[in-house]
Amino acid sequence: MNGRALGSGNRLMNYEQMLSDALDTVKREGRYRVFADVKRRRGAFPKAEVVKGEAAKQITVWCSNDYLGMGQHPKVLAAMHEAIDLVGAGSGGTRNIAGTTHYHVELERELADLHGKEMALLFTSAFVANEAALSTLATLFPGCVIFSDEKNHASMIAGIRNGRGPKQIFVHNDLADLEARLQKVPRDTPKIIAFESVYSMDGHVAPIAAICDLAEKYNALTYLDEVHAVGLYGPRGGGVAERDGVMHRIDIINGTLAKGFGVMGGYIAASKTLCDAIRSYAPGFIFTTSLAPAIAAGALASIRHLKSSNLEREQHQERARALKRRLAAADFPVISGPSHIVPVLVADPVRCKALTDVLLDRYGIYVQPINYPTVPRGTERLRLTPSPQHTDADMEHLVNALTDLWSQCPLALIESLAEAAE
Ligand SMILES: Cc1ncc(COP(=O)(O)O)c(C=O)c1O
Repeated sequence: MNGRALGSGNRLMNYEQMLSDALDTVKREGRYRVFADVKRRRGAFPKAEVVKGEAAKQITVWCSNDYLGMGQHPKVLAAMHEAIDLVGAGSGGTRNIAGTTHYHVELERELADLHGKEMALLFTSAFVANEAALSTLATLFPGCVIFSDEKNHASMIAGIRNGRGPKQIFVHNDLADLEARLQKVPRDTPKIIAFESVYSMDGHVAPIAAICDLAEKYNALTYLDEVHAVGLYGPRGGGVAERDGVMHRIDIINGTLAKGFGVMGGYIAASKTLCDAIRSYAPGFIFTTSLAPAIAAGALASIRHLKSSNLEREQHQERARALKRRLAAADFPVISGPSHIVPVLVADPVRCKALTDVLLDRYGIYVQPINYPTVPRGTERLRLTPSPQHTDADMEHLVNALTDLWSQCPLALIESLAEAAE
């Protein structure tokens, strides 16, 4: 490499050193992130390969958000191939300037229909959708107070922060705290309650109907992130709000095309006026190239399939229950929750990383350690995501491997195994 050190001609400031110091902090805390170099195999999910130097090792993926395996579904792949053959690779522009292809138009119609809303708007990710929508709403409703669940995702936090309006952070899923805060704000002040349906790191589910009751009582809009629920819950995959029969009571629904639907991209679904306003004012919508047509085509095929097929949803729930049962029987500290997410508490960043290293190297089991800032310090965990494609044999292998390793505490032993495997 012939890279030049940052600002190497500058004697006053050692930029490289400052960055190295910041990285050393993360390393010292045991939360330096190492990405696994994964080769997915078409049609073989959750089997894949991890590349290490020249070698490739067979693995079973246990931490993917391709919850239903739709990223490998034949209909999705066929739609993407067909779109590339018909219209080529990129969209060619922003939505306003040459980048609205017919696939985008169809996909937005399909999403509006999925959520029973007048309109939907596509973004390049649900992160961008949350940031753009919330920051723009905060500026379009001057003085608007945003009530945000304390466990909301970083993308909602970014949107609320960038909107620079007043905010109230309420205790996670706590209706009494939310109501106490709503009561203190005048009735004629604009308000938005922003929350998630499924909280992805704990697997908790929000009391959506009761939050809608409070929103009605205090004249607030509701903004629901269904990123970890769309495709997975509800008779047509509309999310937990659809399952609970309250989708019509939510003003703005945010979702992703990257998890349950297995492709990429994000969206909001809401009234025509609200979407039109976001379309017209949100920099995160306006000033960026639209999704590639093949991505839109794949997402469209995935949504259409999951609107009419419950099979994947039923198998998914059954697999999640089966894994929770097995882990509970083996006495693992599973964070309990009613969703498909299976978090196993490790509560130490170094141990968490060491465990996952050994799982990968010795057992061919890929689980990424989850650490700060994704979860609070001291609550580091393995976040397992069983899919319809994970077999009983996969589960048995996982639970046996965890049992082996758990009994090999203390930490020093696991660390030495991890070092030996490097
Ligand atoms: C709750 C929540 N909202 C939004 C996002 C962003 O979704 P995307 O991956 O489509 O950007 C995530 C990502 O994991 C998430 O967990």
